[in-house]
Amino acid sequence: MKAYILNEAGGVDHLNLTEIEKPVIKENEVLVSVKTIAINPVDVKSRASEGTLSWLLAQKRPVILGWDIAGEVVETGAGTSAFNVGDKVFGMVNFPGQGNAYAEYVAVPADQLALIPQNISFEEAAGATLAALTALQSLRAGKVKKGDKVLIHGASGGVGHYAVQLAKWLGAYVVGTSSEGNKDFVLELGADEHVDYAAARFESAGDDFDFILDSKAGETLSRSLKITKKGGTVVSIPSSNLPEGDRKAAEELGIHLIPVLVSSSGEDMNVLAGLLTSGKLKTHIHQVFKFEELRDAHTSLELGKIRGKIVIGL
Ligand SMILES: NC(=O)c1ccc[n+]([C@@H]2O[C@H](COP(=O)([O-])OP(=O)(O)OC[C@H]3O[C@@H](n4cnc5c(N)ncnc54)[C@H](OP(=O)(O)O)[C@@H]3O)[C@@H](O)[C@H]2O)c1
Repeated sequence: MKAYILNEAGGVDHLNLTEIEKPVIKENEVLVSVKTIAINPVDVKSRASEGTLSWLLAQKRPVILGWDIAGEVVETGAGTSAFNVGDKVFGMVNFPGQGNAYAEYVAVPADQLALIPQNISFEEAAGATLAALTALQSLRAGKVKKGDKVLIHGASGGVGHYAVQLAKWLGAYVVGTSSEGNKDFVLELGADEHVDYAAARFESAGDDFDFILDSKAGETLSRSLKITKKGGTVVSIPSSNLPEGDRKAAEELGIHLIPVLVSSSGEDMNVLAGLLTSGKLKTHIHQVFKFEELRDAHTSLELGKIRGKIVIGL
């Protein structure tokens, strides 16, 4: 089968398309013929930085990067019963850990997958995996509920565009930040208010937030703590290592500051599948690349300004 292998971290030219053996599934796994994959900033970071690569995949080399897949089941392990050959499935494979998603076939623990809703495409399904799970697990960590006032930073990005929709589904009042060019997009997602981070300070939206999703870290995190209500929650996703100063500030202010690291879950994939079926959640596709153009997809994500998701068709 075709797969991209990475011998060491580096530029996009380190992603090498090659022929390797198909994976052999374990009892608890199914073999998926991949139709579409999605990529995230963590793909770029682990491809570019030996530190991130080792943190996620230890010292194993070469590795196959990638975690987000949508495809068709072609084989089922003896210990699985949830899926049949021919089922269309999607999910985030073994995160944090080795997903091996940049390949024509991927072995996936059955309990990390859900059936793709009939009303959405493989592209839309592939997008709604790591980024959508992050949004769901972050809002859950903050116990977001009806009537809460919520601020989503990077509301037009991969995680952000799902987080806005999910927060609305939970009944929150939602403020989203992005550049001016994405204002209409963020409001169309359902946000009640928009702040252009380049033109205004996001503090202009109030100092009484119950929940803030920080996807930027640094100053965005420190300033977010100051506009969160006592007893409220700030979830930070760029890194698990939160600055000591921010930890102390949160403690003094009586705010829960929680680093969230997304983790694979078929149960959560089923929650997302339900929302995608009902139309309460939608994937916005920024661009579709071909498998042979994976390096270009990485470069595009690295340059930023992504509205929704970049996906790659096989
Ligand atoms: N902890 C975890 O489990 C986890 C999971 C997923 C992602 N992450 C991390 O979360 C971050 C976001 O991921 P993503 O997939 O959403 O990335 P992304 O799709 O690349 O997000 C880009 C978005 O951020 C917006 N943006 C840029 N600068 C901003 C600023 N100063 N304030 C507010 N918005 C700004 C951009 O809007 P404009 O184009 O309008 O400027 C763009 O829409 C990354 O650092 C990623 O590594 C962590």
